[in-house]
Amino acid sequence: MEFLDLPPALHAEGTVRLPGSKSISNRFLLLAALAEDETAIRDLLASDDVERMLDALKALGVDWRRGEGNDFVVCGAGGVFPAKQAELFLGNAGTAFRPLTAALALAGGHYRLSGVPRMHERPIGDLVDALRQLGADIRYLGNEGFPPLEIRPAAIRAGGRVAVRGEASSQFLTALLMALPLTGAGATVEVVGELISKPYIDLTLNLMARFGVAVERDGWRAFRIPAGARYRSPGTVYVEGDASAASYFLAAGAIAGGPVRVEGVGRDSIQGDVRFAEALAATGARIEMGPNWIEARAPAGGRLRAIDLDCNHIPDAAMTLAVAALFAEGTTRLRNIASWRVKETDRIAAMATELHKLGATVEAGDDFIAVSPPLTFAPNAAIDTYDDHRIAMCFSLACLGGVPVRINDPKCVSKTFPDYFERFAGLVAPVIAIDGPSASGKGTVAARVAEKLGYHYLDSGALYRLVALAAFRAGVSLEDGAALARIAETLPATFEAGRIQLNGEDATEAIRSEECSAGSSKVAAFPAVRTALLGRQRAYRQPPGLVAEGRDMGSVVFLDAQFKVFLTATAEARAERRYKQLIDKGMSANIDTLLQDLRERDARDSARAVAPLQKCADAELLDTTAMTVEEAVSWMVERARQG
Ligand code: DC
Repeated sequence: MEFLDLPPALHAEGTVRLPGSKSISNRFLLLAALAEDETAIRDLLASDDVERMLDALKALGVDWRRGEGNDFVVCGAGGVFPAKQAELFLGNAGTAFRPLTAALALAGGHYRLSGVPRMHERPIGDLVDALRQLGADIRYLGNEGFPPLEIRPAAIRAGGRVAVRGEASSQFLTALLMALPLTGAGATVEVVGELISKPYIDLTLNLMARFGVAVERDGWRAFRIPAGARYRSPGTVYVEGDASAASYFLAAGAIAGGPVRVEGVGRDSIQGDVRFAEALAATGARIEMGPNWIEARAPAGGRLRAIDLDCNHIPDAAMTLAVAALFAEGTTRLRNIASWRVKETDRIAAMATELHKLGATVEAGDDFIAVSPPLTFAPNAAIDTYDDHRIAMCFSLACLGGVPVRINDPKCVSKTFPDYFERFAGLVAPVIAIDGPSASGKGTVAARVAEKLGYHYLDSGALYRLVALAAFRAGVSLEDGAALARIAETLPATFEAGRIQLNGEDATEAIRSEECSAGSSKVAAFPAVRTALLGRQRAYRQPPGLVAEGRDMGSVVFLDAQFKVFLTATAEARAERRYKQLIDKGMSANIDTLLQDLRERDARDSARAVAPLQKCADAELLDTTAMTVEEAVSWMVERARQG
């Protein structure tokens, strides 16, 4: 089986632009298909579940075309599907299966609808019963009450009352409401029993209204579709970011420092799962919200606290709370989540099993789960994902416990968020910070460690050297801090395939001259220069990780590095290495002068007021005086793999 090993991480920070909401994407597609005229849909989610809906619409003769990026145009069929016969395969997409069942049953035609084996275990009887009240001819092709289904043409009763049960899934009511305008007559839907996941119904009504059908609502018991209601294209619609997907990133910020900001949902969102942010705030996380963004940071005290919450209104995002519970003080109780049992998998059972693997104490019942955190996280847990995208995504958070975590079958996230793990890694990409004096060998060692781990590599000293070189070339004095900072801010340098370009000219060798060495050390003493280079250095932090070397990698630039090493050697050993390097390159050198220069540079780098060269308290010391490069590299790779 395929798997993904997530390295240990302790900090999450950054900004994520969310993919489009699955619930909105699939509703828009169906509404646009049923409407009159063309609808332009912007920012549609690109994922398996949406592909299933798009394929189905094509098979039903609905014309749509892909524009730029995630923009689509759907040519509405005005309430009739051109294809009167079709076989539809809908994978495991509940947001496609349920509404299409209702629409096809009421539109008339001969259709077969099937999905993956798990889809055939997810109940649909409540919806079929409701549609049969209207005269629909729907047959079960497998087990009674479950897909696959066959729909045959039938005389549909126009108008009247329809009863539907509300306890198993709100998607049945959504499906009925979206399909009923096809009958042309007014109808009233009555909900029997408790209606779960009410925010999803709100979402359905909101989107139907945008397509010209205003449903009248009497509490959560009865919904009236006015006679003569017809869907009309609103022209262009925009899909919001996915609020359920936002939950993983927000939780990462709440658990591991933050701030983590999601863009695409916020205060103005119409999705119920934005209320996940409230739940997170109840755990002590610091939450800020704008019209279309949310930001989360850890509580002021650092640790989350357990909550006891009725999660009926946020069934999907509540799974994220179950994993966040690993990081909370006390026992987290998530109640009223019976619908978890009939989702992509039996989510209550699956969450309990997988949380247990990480060392948590879990109690699970028919409609609740209670999670107490482990004393220490069990390392190397292999998380099974049950072909359930949300299990895979929420368990990625476990690596924030500072342990490596394996996610089995990680590609199941493609149901709603194909590049989830890349985005997550962007927030938590581990950094190995190597600091030390000149000629300690850290450059060679860091580059090789990066290569062995497949990580990116940052030679921060090269940036200071480039500033010095650019200053020389522009005739800027090395005493003029402000001018040097301006150079640093806009440094036109690129690093590619081991070569360094400055202003389009190869500067790889030039920056290594003794003149540049001495100059860079002077340049580096200006706070404004250091500030100007800060963002540039941090931008190197990209998944899968970064090995960064310099003087202040662990103490300033990457304070939250996965681990920090202070790599050093005696001044004599370093002078000798530099001497050999120069001689090998055919340059002339004097060992006494080199030693003298090194000592001066060490003194300047250590004595400067800003970010002086020093071993920070949480760095490990590696003295390479008596070590070969290979020995130092092996030590570090080994250390990195331990986490
Ligand atoms: O590592 P190096 O010799 O290439 O560094 C050149 C100079 O840049 C060095 O004298 C100190 C300075 N430097 C720094 O101040 N901070 C860093 N992170 C890296 C280098």
